[in-house]
Amino acid sequence: MSRLIKKILADKLSPEELKEVISGFDIIGDIAILKIPDKLLSKKYLIAKTLLDNVKNIRCVFRQVSPISGEYRLMELEHLAGEDRTFTEYRESGCRFYVDIAKVYFSPRLSGERLRIANLVKDNEVIVNMFAGIGTFSIIIAKKRKTTKHYAIDVNPDAYQLILKNAYLNKVEDRVTAFLGDAGRIIEYYLSGCADRVLMPYPERALEYFPFALKALKEDGGTVHVYLHVKSKPIKEVIDEILPKLDIEKKFAVEDVSGRVVREVGPRLDQVVLDIRLRRLKN
Ligand SMILES: C[S@@+](CC[C@H](N)C(=O)[O-])C[C@H]1O[C@@H](n2cnc3c(N)ncnc32)[C@H](O)[C@@H]1O
Repeated sequence: MSRLIKKILADKLSPEELKEVISGFDIIGDIAILKIPDKLLSKKYLIAKTLLDNVKNIRCVFRQVSPISGEYRLMELEHLAGEDRTFTEYRESGCRFYVDIAKVYFSPRLSGERLRIANLVKDNEVIVNMFAGIGTFSIIIAKKRKTTKHYAIDVNPDAYQLILKNAYLNKVEDRVTAFLGDAGRIIEYYLSGCADRVLMPYPERALEYFPFALKALKEDGGTVHVYLHVKSKPIKEVIDEILPKLDIEKKFAVEDVSGRVVREVGPRLDQVVLDIRLRRLKN
């Protein structure tokens, strides 16, 4: 897609400007979201209209006006061209998802990571997704592994509603249970000791919520996938820095830990994931 965009905008922008526009460009369903640097703001409608007229699948073009922020991880949007709607249908890994880009967090840039996790999951696993968004991780895994059971938690009521709808849309509603509320509280009240695997796809607060992930794990233990934002450095150094902060040793032994960079999220800033397999210690 970025090659096509490059071609379409080549006679409107300099190569330097093109690079900046492409690096901040996402397509979700039929909606394009652009990050336009200040110096290019005078060309924002030109860029948006050019994309709308030349890319077949794009029906709406928005500009991301603010950074992603707040408890629900939302961004402010400015409508630039095409239909003025924020609701769309997005497809990933053979699943369909309803998304409202103004009301819930969603990033297509995690598609590779969602598939990677789905490929790690074994039959009959119970999986808690602490920060589920519209339910992508849970639903993709449920669809791929027919004997798995999922608890998908989000504190945003719109995200919760979309998890329910998306589970139905993909015919996995019998195995994906949505919870509305704070992940820590939901685990304490309903999900202690139930999980083979816990997903923590919320880098800003994963460390703070890690004790609840431990609480969700089954009696013997299980695997936790922790997503974090860290300064770019070798992954071994990230692991050495983060593991001691997790306060695991009192109750668990680390059986295996590995990590990888999921994507670059800023200058010298990476989103990483640590896959940590834990065995509960017997008293
Ligand atoms: C980065 S997004 C998750 C993205 C999602 N996993 C995906 O693949 O698209 C973080 C999500 O956590 C939710 N959230 C924030 N605080 C929360 C909390 N205390 N408990 C549960 N969910 C929370 C936000 O509403 C948001 O949907």
